[in-house]
Amino acid sequence: MADKHSCGVGLIGAGVVGGGVAGLLLSRRELLARRTGIDIELLAVADVDAARAAALGVPEKKILADYRLLFDNPEIKVVVELIGGVGVAANAILDAIEAGRHVVTANKALLAKRGREIFAKADKKGVIVAFEAAVAGGIPLILALRDGLVANRMQSLLGIVNGTCNYILSQMAASGRPFAECLAEAQRLGFAEADPSADIDGLDSGHKLALLSALAFETWIDFPSLHIEGIRDIRDEDIRITGNLGYTLKLLGVIRPEQPPEIIAKGSGGGSGRLFLSVHPALLRRGDPLAGVSGSLNAVKTEGDAVMESMFCGRGAGRYPTASAVVSDIALAASAAVFGGRGPRWSPPEENAYSLAPIADYRTRYYLRFTVLDAPGVLGRITTVLGRNQVSIAAAHQFEGDHPDGAASVCIFSHVAREGDILASLAEIGGMDFLRGKPALIRIEE
Ligand code: HSE
Repeated sequence: MADKHSCGVGLIGAGVVGGGVAGLLLSRRELLARRTGIDIELLAVADVDAARAAALGVPEKKILADYRLLFDNPEIKVVVELIGGVGVAANAILDAIEAGRHVVTANKALLAKRGREIFAKADKKGVIVAFEAAVAGGIPLILALRDGLVANRMQSLLGIVNGTCNYILSQMAASGRPFAECLAEAQRLGFAEADPSADIDGLDSGHKLALLSALAFETWIDFPSLHIEGIRDIRDEDIRITGNLGYTLKLLGVIRPEQPPEIIAKGSGGGSGRLFLSVHPALLRRGDPLAGVSGSLNAVKTEGDAVMESMFCGRGAGRYPTASAVVSDIALAASAAVFGGRGPRWSPPEENAYSLAPIADYRTRYYLRFTVLDAPGVLGRITTVLGRNQVSIAAAHQFEGDHPDGAASVCIFSHVAREGDILASLAEIGGMDFLRGKPALIRIEE
């Protein structure tokens, strides 16, 4: 090898993604050296299950039962944490930073909750915490937001960042089957975990959205204050009705400043004011590029004040797509270790650019579905309540015959309305005697 630069890597966790990373580092050493100018060598793998590490082709002498032994080797300049969770993983990352090692992690839950502390410590120690694989798996999204779009003030970000939910919703739309059946199928095919709650209840998307907010909007949120809705209550009926009217349903992470920075803004600062951050099921017009992203794919659409719209699409999970992102971070960290510097620096904003806006102040169009007794005056009573609460109706449809008890579905598409007014209407209508079941509320994102 012409180049004499080298950098040792220590991997913590030899699971699915760890296995992919080890596989790429071992089989692509020459290629990575050619492209980075650094001989990146996997020097040790720490895993409580030595057999699992050995099965990856890692020589026995490089397998460690305790991650702390990695720090005894001064050649290991980059530590990769792939055990996940917020317990041992937190200690491993903090210990690695303390030991002056650059860190690569895919741990979105930990960074969403303790990112401020972790990045601040890394900043103090002069090391990187790289997390490309934490958001949208193999898509080089962090790289794009941090470096490629560094000149932009972001106006909005909408993302499909959970492949499990996207798979289930796509299947519901394609087959007309209910949620429970599509979830069971996703579990059978390996697209959903045995315990799917972190995915289908929106928590995983929330973790990713928190990181995107910090990165693209310079705003760290207190994670529990994030508005999160999952897809458990999505009914096949709503997908069918809205589908027939030209909409596609997706679970979206949404970040929107209340007052987006002007296009090609005159000022040099970031945005300010209030920021809406929410994970929720949303209807998109079929022509929206996000609407066409189906199956287990992820996609993120951004609007920057200089670049305008961009869209990033690809695999959000899986052994090798995720390993691809992790190895990209390893190359970045190795470069910092060997050549110094850290590229465009990113650490948490000391002061948030925005404050978090309550979802009650969100303004968009809404789809509402009421399952009602099919009787005179019912439609009028619903629309009267909406009107009294300043909700203007753009279209109303009633579908009969869908329900065995003779009930009908009344579906309302509103003009842009304030969410608090929609919720007040639903609270009022919720107490009315004609209602058969819980009303549906789905936001329309345009
Ligand atoms: N479980 C996630 C998904 C991948 O389904 O997209 C890891 O965040």
